[in-house]
This record gives sequence, structure tokens and C-alpha cells, in this order.
Amino acid sequence: MCGIVGHLGPQNSVDVVIEGLKRLEYRGYDSAGVSFISSDNELVVYKKKGEIVNLITELEGKDVKARSSIGHTRWATHGGVNDENAHPHAEPERGISMVHNGIIENAGEIREDLTSRGHKFKSETDSECFLRLVIFHLDEGLHIKDAIIASFKRIQGHSAFVILYKETDEIYAIKNGAPLVCGINEINSEVFVSSDPYALAGMANKIYFPENQVLCHLSPSNQHLLNFYELDGEKSTRYMSKKQNLDHDPASKGDYDHYMLKEIFEQPELIRSLTQFYFSGEGRASLEAALDLPRANIHITACGTAFYAGIVIKDFIEKENRISCKLEVASEFRYRNPVLSKDELALFISQSGETADTLAAQQLCKDYGVKTLSIVNTEGSTLYRDCDANLLIRAGVEIGVASTKAFTQQALTGYLFSQVIKEGGFTDSVKNALSAKLALLAERIDNLLAREEEIREIAKSIYQYNGFFFTGRGAYFPIALEGALKLKEIAYVHAEGYAAGELKHGPIALIDDQKVNVALVGTELFEKTVSNIQEIKARDGVIVSIGPRDNKELKEISDYYFGVELEGLGDLAPLCLNVVNQLLSYHIAKLLGTDIDKPRNLAKSVTVE
Ligand code: F6R
Repeated sequence: MCGIVGHLGPQNSVDVVIEGLKRLEYRGYDSAGVSFISSDNELVVYKKKGEIVNLITELEGKDVKARSSIGHTRWATHGGVNDENAHPHAEPERGISMVHNGIIENAGEIREDLTSRGHKFKSETDSECFLRLVIFHLDEGLHIKDAIIASFKRIQGHSAFVILYKETDEIYAIKNGAPLVCGINEINSEVFVSSDPYALAGMANKIYFPENQVLCHLSPSNQHLLNFYELDGEKSTRYMSKKQNLDHDPASKGDYDHYMLKEIFEQPELIRSLTQFYFSGEGRASLEAALDLPRANIHITACGTAFYAGIVIKDFIEKENRISCKLEVASEFRYRNPVLSKDELALFISQSGETADTLAAQQLCKDYGVKTLSIVNTEGSTLYRDCDANLLIRAGVEIGVASTKAFTQQALTGYLFSQVIKEGGFTDSVKNALSAKLALLAERIDNLLAREEEIREIAKSIYQYNGFFFTGRGAYFPIALEGALKLKEIAYVHAEGYAAGELKHGPIALIDDQKVNVALVGTELFEKTVSNIQEIKARDGVIVSIGPRDNKELKEISDYYFGVELEGLGDLAPLCLNVVNQLLSYHIAKLLGTDIDKPRNLAKSVTVE
């Protein structure tokens, strides 16, 4: 989805903004642009359809030294993908340019009104309405700050805007329901704004998360680089701030060919540190806060991979605690008038904490007076700020568009939550048992990762087949759903996840010698799952089984068999098989030559409905 970066400071601002935009490429976009105040004091704009490299080529040989600039990566919503519709939108003669994330819902009415007053639009976007509104208010004689506030009050919908103003060499930013962060580097007297703190990693040593309707003012004054105002012009304190380590460089893929592979390999270490965080570190207070919330029933809501993690968590909580959990995808939940009551808990799972449907579902629960809890990766995200309590999954930045380590960490955070409910607290014995359990899982995943080559060999044998059915029973069913999602999103092949016993109720009609069944087999319901495999084998389907190691029966009925040491893992065993699925999808996609880290049509953070 769209990305914003703005910078003001002594080093070349255009370089900083381009670097920030490159870091946001992972979010998905279809055009990019920058606007800055050139050395001869002109406000200039360069924007190009396609990848950032097109923009960089356009900038070659131009005077691109500036003290302040703003940039944008656009993911089209209103208006086609072309240079005109790309951001920034600008009126260079008036010395103003702006970028926008989100949707202006009353753009049609504003455009009509301003057009009838003689204002000329240059693009088909809803975003440009904001620029024209600001100019309209400047024409009325308002100061730039007041013109922005007046324009902001007129628009409807969830948006974030960043405006560059030449006259005072300042940047303003404001948002409602869309992500926005500011940052400062106190050593270099630099100030930043972005839609994603990741763009500022290693550049800003202090990050600020403004709340909705707080005007952020980035100014070149050495004393007051960053100020916050309420819409009535008074100074605002409605923001959260945190220090950030400047050495941190999440932007590197290291020796890995893709971020996705790096993130798959990060999993054991992340798993090991999770119990430490929740039992001995900063996480403990958040877990205690989560335990204090009412939970007569739990409504779990999320999208995509996070939703599948929700199925895993529902199983953990229901099995261990007999608390009934209702699960629904956020895009349905928000429009369904769900039955909610104040003694229940609403749990939202999200990597980004910015998914529009998940946020809308959370807002709905909040409006009903139901307490809300998140299992979330991004500290300071909208979901994090809006929930009554938050459990961080501590996955670090996830750059690969296909979610891998976040899924594992989401499921495990839900597992710890469920275990602590069951045990009624944080005794040493609970802590030791859970640490040992997660350490064992991490060790088994380490062992699997060391066998990557075996998984690659299986991928080589099956990557040219044209349909994949991932199947599993019980706790392996959500793993089948997640496995199929991973494969389709990064390899662009048709894949479906099915409960193994359900296949014969219809989809089995599709099975022939060109279809692959990736069968996820646990020790529970083993014989029943094997019977389901037999049904597919009898119809010439190609069988890839992933299940208990050294299992003769499974090996014999499979064309390809990958055995995994599941003993002692109990309820966590399915998470091991999920890692095999991740590597299998990765290698199939690599053999097919797709864009693994940035698959077509996808965005990392889905901030529109
Ligand atoms: C799939 C994937 C998506 C996300 C979904 C929710 O690999 O990444 O399905 O899981 O868009 O995103 P978050 O977790 O950011 O709310």
C-alpha cells in the first residue's frame, strides 16, 4: 500500500527520502515521486509510474540537492496508474506539494465544489482534493497551518497527509485513522515523517506516534524541530514517543537471497526470546493487563495469515481453558452486526497493526463497550494504540510480503496467553515448563532448517504441477490453510487448503495425476488422515506427505515423504510442519522465478478496505 517519507535537515534530503521510499517498497506500490525545494529555491516535483528505479533514472543529472523534501510510493485506488496520478501533487507556483495515504470519501463533492469555483485539477485522484482545498484556503488569506487544518476538517475517511511548503521551508503532517510517525535525529538536527517507522530505522533516534487529528509541524529551527498542535491551534501532547537505536539495520538481507528466507530462518531465535520477554522482561506487565480483561467468550478477528493464526489460537484456548472462542475474518465481522456483550473479550491479531478491516472491527467492538486485546507485531501501530491491552509478538520487522515468522510468533503468543490463563499466573514452574517447551520447538525448527536441501529437492520434483491441495485434520487444518495461502501468493499457482476429511465432499472431483496433495500428518488422527491420503492416491493424485519421522506407513503411500521429529512437542507440533510448508513454497516460487519478496498485486499492509 502507499508509503510516505518526508525529511528536513542538513544532509541531502532527497537522498534520505529516496532511501526511505526504497525501504517501503516491500509494502507494494505502482508509482513513486518526490518533491523538494531546489538550491535555486524552486519547489519541484518528479514522479514516475512503475518502480522507484524509474524515478531515480528521472532524477539523474538534475540538481537534486535539498534541505527539505517529501516522497511517496502510490498503490492506486482512485485513478489509473500513470505519472499524473502519482504523488506528490503540487502547485509549484504556489510553492506547495503534498502526499496522501488513505481514501477521501467525499472527494467527489469537494472536486465538484472547487471546480465550480474555477480550481483546476491535474489528476484523477481523490488525494488532489486536499491540495486544492489548502490552496483555496490560502487564497482566502489563511496562514498555511490554518489552511491545512480547515482542509482537514472538511474531508471524510481515513487518511494521512504530508505537505511541503516552500515559503517557510516547512513540512506539516496530519492523519485520521491512517498510520503516521515522526522522528528526530538529535545529533544531526534532522526531522522525519513517514507512514512506517521502518523507513526511519537507523536514521531517527526518537520516534513519535501522533494520535488522530494532531497537526505535526516539522521546522528547520534548531530548537524546535518538531511540534504538535491540536486543531484549535493549541500545543498538543497527544502523541507517544520512544527512543530508537541508531545501529539497528533491519534493512539488510544478509547472505540470504530473499527477505522471506531470512525471516524463515530467524524463527528459532525469535521463539527462544519470547518466553524471556513475557516472563522476565517488559512483556510481563502486558500479559498481566491482558489477564485482567473480561473473557466470558472470546471473539477472534483478523485477516489472511493472521486469521489462520487465530484458528490455531482458538484451538489452544478452547482446549486448555474451555472458553468458547468465535472466529471471523475482519472484513465480514465489521459488517455483520455481531452479537457482543461486555463480559466478553475481543482479540485482534495483526502483524502490521494497520490492516483497515481489522481496525474497523476493533472500533466496532470498542463502540459496543467490549474490551479489546491485540496480538500484534508493530508497537505503536494504530491497533496497538487503540486496544485496551496488547501482546507484542516480537517478530522484528517483517519485510517479505508473505508472512512467515509473524505467523509463528502470533500463534506462540496466543499459546502463552492461553497457558497463563490455564495456570492462573506466572509461577516459576509455569515459566520453566513453557521456556523448555518453546526451546524444544526452536531446536526442532533449527533441525528442519538444516534440511532445507531435502525440501528443495521435493520442490524440484513437484513445481510444475498445476494444482495443490494442502490437507490436514484438527490442529493441522489451519496449517493446511496457511500452507496453501503461502504457495498461491508467492508462486502464483492454484492451491487450496482443506480439512482432510472434507475433500471427498466435492473437491476430490479435481484430483488427477496433475494434482499434488501436500498432506500434513500429525500423530493424532493419524490413521484417519492416512485413509484420506489413500482416497487421493486411488485417484492418481501425487502425494507429498509431511508427518512423523521414520513412519513406514506414511512413506510407503507417499510419492515424496518428509519426516519430522514431533515427539514431545504436543500442541506445538503443527508449527513445525508449517515451517516445512514455508520452505516448500519458497523453493517452488524460486524455481518458477516469481518475485518472492514482492509478489504481484499484493501489499504488505492492507490499509484500505
Ligand atoms: C499473507 C499475508 C496476509 C496478511 C493479512 C493481514 O502472507 O501476509 O494475508 O496476513 O493481510 O495483515 P496483518 O497481519 O498486517 O493485519
